[in-house]
Amino acid sequence: MKISIIGSGYVGVVTGACLSEFGHEIIFVDIDQKKIDLLNKGIPPIYELGLADILEKNKHLISATDDYNSAIGATDLTFISVGTPCAENGTIDTVYVRSAAENIGSALKNTGKKDIHTIIVKSTVFPGTTESVVLDALERMSGKTAGEGFYLGCNPEFLKEGVAIEDFMNPDRIVIGSYDDGAGRVLSELYASFDCPKVITGIKTAEMIKYTSNAFLATKISFANEIGNICKKAGIDTEEVFKGVGLDARINPSFFRSGIGFGGSCFPKDVRALLSGAAESGVDTAILKAVLDVNEAQPLVMIDLLNKHIPDLKGRKVGLLGLAFKPDTDDIRESRAIPVISALTDMGAEVVGYDPLASENMSVLFPDVVYAKEISEVMACDAVLITTEWPEFENLDYSGKLVIDGRRVRRAAETAEIYEGVCW
Ligand code: UDX
Repeated sequence: MKISIIGSGYVGVVTGACLSEFGHEIIFVDIDQKKIDLLNKGIPPIYELGLADILEKNKHLISATDDYNSAIGATDLTFISVGTPCAENGTIDTVYVRSAAENIGSALKNTGKKDIHTIIVKSTVFPGTTESVVLDALERMSGKTAGEGFYLGCNPEFLKEGVAIEDFMNPDRIVIGSYDDGAGRVLSELYASFDCPKVITGIKTAEMIKYTSNAFLATKISFANEIGNICKKAGIDTEEVFKGVGLDARINPSFFRSGIGFGGSCFPKDVRALLSGAAESGVDTAILKAVLDVNEAQPLVMIDLLNKHIPDLKGRKVGLLGLAFKPDTDDIRESRAIPVISALTDMGAEVVGYDPLASENMSVLFPDVVYAKEISEVMACDAVLITTEWPEFENLDYSGKLVIDGRRVRRAAETAEIYEGVCW
C-alpha cells in the first residue's frame, strides 16, 4: 500500500518504519523541516531501539514532506499520529488532530482524487473525538461524506517506548475502530499477516479500549505501590508477594513492579483525561483519582527515606542514577526523577544526575543540576538515589554508600552500606 503518516513523532515514525518493513511505501507529513530533512536522509528524529537500522535499510520506500496535497494525492491510506497534549484542565487538546484532519480534507478536495481514501486516527484521543472532531473537519473541508467519499477509522497503538518496534511487530492484539465497513476492510488487509486477535469494533469503543488499557496498567502499578508500602512496614518482600499473586491466571504477573511510580507520555496523561472526561459527564471516579494520588506521593517516599538518614539536606550532595522515565529512552516526560529533583532542590541539596541518554533533556527543565558524564561523580555524593532501572546500574559497586532504591536494583541491596528500597 501507499501510506501517508501525519506527524512524525514517536508513534508516527515507529508505525511508518515498521510498515515499510512489509514493503509499503511511506510518506511522512510534518510541519518541522528538521524532522523532514532527517527522515529524507533515513535518520530517525527520535530515539528508539532498532529504528535507525530500519529507516536506513528502507530509505528507498520512505520520504517526508510538509505538503499535504502531494502526500494525500500519492497515497491510499493516511494515519493521523499527531500529538494530543494535556490541556490545563486535564482533558486532551485536540488542536493538532483537528488541523491535521482539516488539511487532509482540503487535500482530498484539491487533488480531486477519484479512488476512495482511508483516514485512520492513531493518536490517542478521548472517546468520541474521532467522530466529533475528525469526521466533522474531514467532511467540512473535503465536501465528501464518510463511508462514501472516504473511509474513517481509528487504530490505537499499544507501543511501549524502548520496545516499540518489537511491540508493533508482535502485538497482543490489534484494535480497529471503524466508522464505516471500508476502514475495517482496509486495516484488516493491512494487518492480514499479523498473527494475533483483531478486535474490529465501533470507533468510540476502540478509543475507550486504549484509555481503559492504560488506566488499568496504571492502576496495577499504583496498587503494587500501595501494597509495597504496607509490605515495607511489615518487613515483607513485595516482589515475592506479587510473584505469588501474579501466578493466578486471572491476575497476570506483569506491571506489578513497585517503586517510585509511573511516568511517560501516556499513563499520567490518559488517566487525567479519563478523570476529566468522567467529571464532565458527572461520573465519580474514586479509583482513577487514587491511582494518580498514589503516583504523586510515591517519589516523596524516597525523599522521606533519605531524610531519615540525612535530616538536613542543605548543602549536601545527592546523586541521582537515572533521569529518563524508564530505561532505553531519552524521554523525561512525567519522569519520577522530576518530583525527586524538585523536592531535593527545595531542601537545598546539590543534585548530581546521571543518565545514559536523558541528561540533555532534563537540563532544559533543571539547568542548575550537575549532569555527570561519569557514574563515579554520582557515586561520590553523600547519598545515591536510583530513579531509573538502567541495566548498567545493576552491576555497580555500592559498597560504603547510602542508597535509596526507587526501582529495585538488586546489587544495590547486596552491596550498599545503608540500603533502603522504596517499597520493599
Ligand atoms: C505505555 C503502555 O505500556 C503502552 O501500551 C502505551 O501505548 C503507552 O504507554 P510506555 O509509557 O512507553 O508505554 O512505558 P511502560 O513500559 O508502560 O512504563 C510506563 C511507566 O510505568 C514507567 O515509568 C515505568 O517505570 C512504570 N512502571 C511500569 C512501573 O513503575 N511498574 C511496572 O510494573 C511497570
